[in-house]
Parts: sequence; structure tokens; C-alpha cells
Amino acid sequence: MGLYNDTVMDHFMNPRNVGDLENPDGTGTYGSPVCGDMMQIQIKVKDDVITDAKFKTFGCGSAIASSSMATSMIIGKSIDEALAISNKQIIEELGGLPAVKVHCSVLADHAIKSAIYDYAQKNGKTYEGLAGFD
Ligand code: FES
Ligand code: FES
Repeated sequence: MGLYNDTVMDHFMNPRNVGDLENPDGTGTYGSPVCGDMMQIQIKVKDDVITDAKFKTFGCGSAIASSSMATSMIIGKSIDEALAISNKQIIEELGGLPAVKVHCSVLADHAIKSAIYDYAQKNGKTYEGLAGFD
């Protein structure tokens, strides 16, 4: 038995949505204050719905699995729904992360909000879920 469950291993070994989007509507990056790892998430938005998302993660396996899961979770969701996703939900969807790896999921949570923030700034929009985020 390893430290990681099968879902985490699957998203680490076969990450979904890796790479860059052409003409993204929003790009967010976030670096972990805990370990220095970095994550970039890009989104495409149409009528306030996230139609596509891609990520690049310069970080550990849990950060890669978290960004793979997080991008899968936000595609097809409205901006408000995506903003409501917490790192706890990302961990739940992954079936759990070791305690020392919880901050890796925070990276994904923040990178999503950062991408939406970029989109909101560029389009003169405000979202309640972004309150306090910059
Ligand atoms: Fe990122 Fe160890 S600190 S892999
Ligand atoms: Fe820091 Fe995973 S993102 S160890």
C-alpha cells in the first residue's frame, strides 16, 4: 500500500487537460508558499460557463493530480459554480490526499480563482466568489 490511492495515481500518471489553450480567456498562476511549486491554469469562457481548461504544473505528483482533477471539475461549470469549489472538494474527488499534501490541492483551488480573476479583470466583471481575491 502506497501513500496515494488509485485515483490520485491515475490523475498523476495520466493527467487530464495538460498544456496551454489557444487564446485563453483567463490565465492564472499560483505558487505555493509552503514548497515553492507552481501551477498555471487557463480557461475558456462562453456565456459565463467554462468551456475548456488546461494546466501546467511545476510541482509534485499531488499538485499534478490536483490540477488534473480541478480542471476536469470546472469544465462545463458556470463561473459561480467553479468559484465555489474548495480544495476540500478537490481532495474528496481524489479520494483523499496525505495530510502533508493538502497544500497541493490549495494550489489548484487558488490557480482556478486566479484564472477567473484574470478573466473578470479583462471583461469588467465582478463575481461574489472572488471577494477578497487578488
Ligand atoms: Fe514540490 Fe517536493 S516541494 S515536490
Ligand atoms: Fe508543494 Fe505538492 S505542491 S509538495
